[in-house]
Amino acid sequence: MSTIKITINGQPQTVEAPPMKRLLDVLREDLHLTGTKEGCGEGECGSCSVLMNGELVNSCLVPALQADGARICTIEGVSTQGRLHPIQQCFLERGGAQCGICTPGMILAAHYLLEKYPQPTLLQIQEGLAGNLCRCTGYIRIFDAVQQAAILGKTGAAE
Ligand code: FES
Ligand code: FES
Repeated sequence: MSTIKITINGQPQTVEAPPMKRLLDVLREDLHLTGTKEGCGEGECGSCSVLMNGELVNSCLVPALQADGARICTIEGVSTQGRLHPIQQCFLERGGAQCGICTPGMILAAHYLLEKYPQPTLLQIQEGLAGNLCRCTGYIRIFDAVQQAAILGKTGAAE
């Protein structure tokens, strides 16, 4: 077991975990943050995306020890005081979420994208979300939601 110290959504946390335990499992099992979803478990689908030190990562590929000392933002850290983040609101209004498995990762990927490109082109949105797979929506509504969030110009602060 290793002692892992991480800052999750602004809160310092200490977890005792095997060093190779996946960050995804640390989040879901040890910290009960079940908003982060598992899809493929192999780094292919993006369902487990979180922000680690401001970078978008697949938490199924990050060993717990690698996250020691890191700042992590999960979907639970995106809304504030029980209010949806504007990106979440746009997903809701534009039908960007159906079954919801991809949605937390998609929201974090969109957040990361809009931090880099506040006014992205459609191509930049498509490329920025290329690592996040959705089996339900056909993507059009997701791209539409991200475009709407960009128009509103409210990326907010997720960490
Ligand atoms: S569950 Fe991590 S990338 Fe699919
Ligand atoms: S909403 Fe179902 S996988 Fe995207």
